[in-house]
Amino acid sequence: MSEGVSTQPQAVPDGAHTPANVIVGVAGGIAAYKACHLIRNFTERGDSVRVIPTENALRFVGAATFEALSGNPVDTGVFTRVDEVQHVRLGQEADLIVVAPATADLIARVATGRADDLLTSTILVATCPVVLAPAMHTEMWRNPATRANVATLRERGITVLEPAHGRLTGKDSGPGRLPEPDVIAELARTVAATGPFERTLEGKRVLISAGGTQENIDPVRFIGNRSSGKQGFALGDIAAQRGAAVTIVAGNTDELEPPAGAEVVRVRSTRDLEREMNERAADADVIIMAAAVADFRPESEAGTKLKKGTSDDALSTIHLVENPDVLKGLVAKRDAGETDATIIGFAAETDHELEHGRAKLARKGADMLMVNSVSGGGVFGQDRNRGWLLAAGGGEEEIPDGTKHEVAVRIWDAVERLSR
Ligand code: CTP
Repeated sequence: MSEGVSTQPQAVPDGAHTPANVIVGVAGGIAAYKACHLIRNFTERGDSVRVIPTENALRFVGAATFEALSGNPVDTGVFTRVDEVQHVRLGQEADLIVVAPATADLIARVATGRADDLLTSTILVATCPVVLAPAMHTEMWRNPATRANVATLRERGITVLEPAHGRLTGKDSGPGRLPEPDVIAELARTVAATGPFERTLEGKRVLISAGGTQENIDPVRFIGNRSSGKQGFALGDIAAQRGAAVTIVAGNTDELEPPAGAEVVRVRSTRDLEREMNERAADADVIIMAAAVADFRPESEAGTKLKKGTSDDALSTIHLVENPDVLKGLVAKRDAGETDATIIGFAAETDHELEHGRAKLARKGADMLMVNSVSGGGVFGQDRNRGWLLAAGGGEEEIPDGTKHEVAVRIWDAVERLSR
């Protein structure tokens, strides 16, 4: 390859991942080029990928690209390699089918059970999880015909992802953008592991804090808490896919793609976070405090960079004052009748996790606490998590090791049971 990149399956970086037979379907939309990254996401984990484009997809990306990236032949119709009866074999052998982009036409054809090319025929044969990642103009996504087709597919257990919001092909923006390939892959793997996404949070408003807050010492230094924001964003992803309207108040995070359709409010300090959470608490049905909040801040912030070795020694002795406890403040609002929200806290513990978690739950007054074990630096910035969910009424559920999206599914299942 001229780029000098290897196109064949790579070593598996994620030890917990069992290689799978993945079919990546590609329909004829401008976002077809993003399918190339999706294919690589799967092959890099050791999955065997078979790409099935529609005829129109090949107007955007050539078959040679898909063949090189997947290491497998590419056909669009059922009349090639007829002796192998490809659609039956591929459909039966697939562990996961992901179509990205899924155009309005592809969605309509699958919803009506058409089998007029290799992709739709294969989907009709398959019994494995099927995930469609739509991409189209906002008007097409909102058209009653598309709405009805999407509803039909979801009723049948096919996961139709919520499209991302943002710039479309032309000047306009709105829902209809293909989510980023890595997000599609992560959501598809979550569906394969935990089942199709159901619309159980339709009409609900969800407020989530994520990431770490930072407190300035001077213009160049700060005190901060470690957090990538991944677990908070994963909770937002799953809530959005279950139909909720999601707001994320984010401190410092890795460069994460926001959940589909989510409002993201950026903050820096604990007091910023407190203000933004409090402002939105009254409207929320569920509040999750996944942020790693800096408990203390310097008494005063220097306006110019502090110098080492000066007589007042302002750098070696920094006086700290305690920050507000945002979670406790939200619980106080709930107790005062200012919000009906179910409130969930997080606890990062290095030892005696359950004992400390129970005490923290009682101290904070939240409805539920997710206790993470962070001994040895595990969890921070990682893609996996585990721990226990403790309910205020005394319930306890172990959350086994899983990706942060799988953990988010379990947390939402528990929250929905609690607020039912
Ligand atoms: N939290 C908060 N405001 C703070 C500190 C923590 O809202 N000033 C929230 C966190 O977002 C989390 C929960 O409280 O949901 C527990 O956070 P954690 O850091 O584990 O607990 P602390 O209260 O800081 O207690 P400690 O550091 O002593 O373990």
